[in-house]
Amino acid sequence: MKVIRTIDAIKKVIQDYKAQNKQIGFVATMGFLHDGHLQLMRAAKQENDIVVASIFVNPLQFGPNEDFEKYPRNEQKDTQLAEEVGIDVLFMPTAEEMYPQPMIIQMGITRRVDVLCGRSRPGHFDGVLTVVTKLFHLIQPTKAYFGLKDAQQVAVIDALIQDLNFPIALVGLPTVREADGLAKSSRNVYLSETERKEAVSLSKGLQAGKQLLLSGERDPQRIIDEVTKTIELNISGRIDYVELLSYPSLEQVTSVDQPIILATAVFFEHARLIDNLLLDENGSLITRYN
Ligand code: PAJ
Repeated sequence: MKVIRTIDAIKKVIQDYKAQNKQIGFVATMGFLHDGHLQLMRAAKQENDIVVASIFVNPLQFGPNEDFEKYPRNEQKDTQLAEEVGIDVLFMPTAEEMYPQPMIIQMGITRRVDVLCGRSRPGHFDGVLTVVTKLFHLIQPTKAYFGLKDAQQVAVIDALIQDLNFPIALVGLPTVREADGLAKSSRNVYLSETERKEAVSLSKGLQAGKQLLLSGERDPQRIIDEVTKTIELNISGRIDYVELLSYPSLEQVTSVDQPIILATAVFFEHARLIDNLLLDENGSLITRYN
């Protein structure tokens, strides 16, 4: 595995692969790798000649009161895991390398952003789209793999690819969970023992909503109320949102008659956790996007 830290070096490596007509799969991460990330890497490995993964904790996508400074990092273990999965190139630039000067041009998202995490994290998706655009230009992937754990991120990257004509196929893969249903996240390490036990209620709440849909309920508000009730009863933290929207357009619906996202975010003392289910109009889980 090649470990690359500079823009000059990654450009050169990619140029060589392109000259050899290699199909490049790409997985962008912020590191502290777990099975959610590794699933994306394994799929990329199966479906492409070469896999490039990046690890970069992107300062642009963190708000002033968020956890950029203390975001968990473990470069040594991540390098070992990436190597084991069979990553060909691990791109780990510094912030100075990615942003040698304050950006003059940045991406600005206009829709799909006034809901879910976009509403509670102003500027977050602009930061995500800016770094993903830079990474797409540098790595020029044939296919790019993202997790549906961050389904709003997948919806905005889908729009990025379509609106700006990136010649890239987007692949969204399902949320990888702990045995009790908690969505795997690098941020789960912030939870206290009690909070860790409570955190399972995010997925439990969403499942309760899914059951209601499966049993024929089509009223979004009734489903939202059921999810909210289930979560509220079981946590010490505060619910940020419970929403049901069309997917991937992320618009309000009056009745569930198309694919939807049922999503929640909860503030615990040191962590804000998110989870969602993508469901078709009958309430069945959608496990791959595109
Ligand atoms: P990060 O949170 O490290 O996640 C990297 C990728 O792994 C994302 O596509 C995310 O959706 C996916 N992922 C994380 N947890 C997952 C889980 N439990 N199951 C399935 N997939 C999971 O998302 C980011 O980094 C950043 O915003 C990034 C895209 C790298 C831009 O900075």
